[in-house]
Amino acid sequence: MTVNFILNGEDVSLQTEADARLIDLLRKNFTLPGAKAGCLSGNCGLCFVILNGKVVPSCLIPAFRVRGSEIITIEGFSQTDEYQDIIAGFQEAGVACCGYCDSAKILAAQALLERRSRPGREEILDAFSGIICRCTEPESLAAGISATADIRQQRRYGRGV
Ligand code: FES
Ligand code: FES
Repeated sequence: MTVNFILNGEDVSLQTEADARLIDLLRKNFTLPGAKAGCLSGNCGLCFVILNGKVVPSCLIPAFRVRGSEIITIEGFSQTDEYQDIIAGFQEAGVACCGYCDSAKILAAQALLERRSRPGREEILDAFSGIICRCTEPESLAAGISATADIRQQRRYGRGV
């Protein structure tokens, strides 16, 4: 089947099997390795991408579901000001980023903050519940999101909260 979608802001098209996994399309057809192959069963979050504004495990998304959608991977997102907000917020709060699940945490943070500019602690923990992370304490994650929200507001509107 032909699959047309928007990938990191660009219109793309490819021929593939209807049930091909999105993670494989990204890694093999588009040479985008940022979505990592972990459990390949929806349990670790390492393969997260943003699909139509929500983080999803790309290992569970078949090609037919991708048609007409907008997908953002860490490679595309890392080119944005919003990415820099999150990096700065995480650094300020001391959020651990060992390299293993960084892209998943960053994309989950972005999807959350686009939905809720000032999420509460429970919303934050819920948004990250699909990511298996060995390093990050829940408190530092909550602090990292709060710091990112401040930094983003300052950048966008030139004032604090
Ligand atoms: S590799 Fe997709 S959730 Fe683990
Ligand atoms: S930052 Fe190390 S596993 Fe998540």
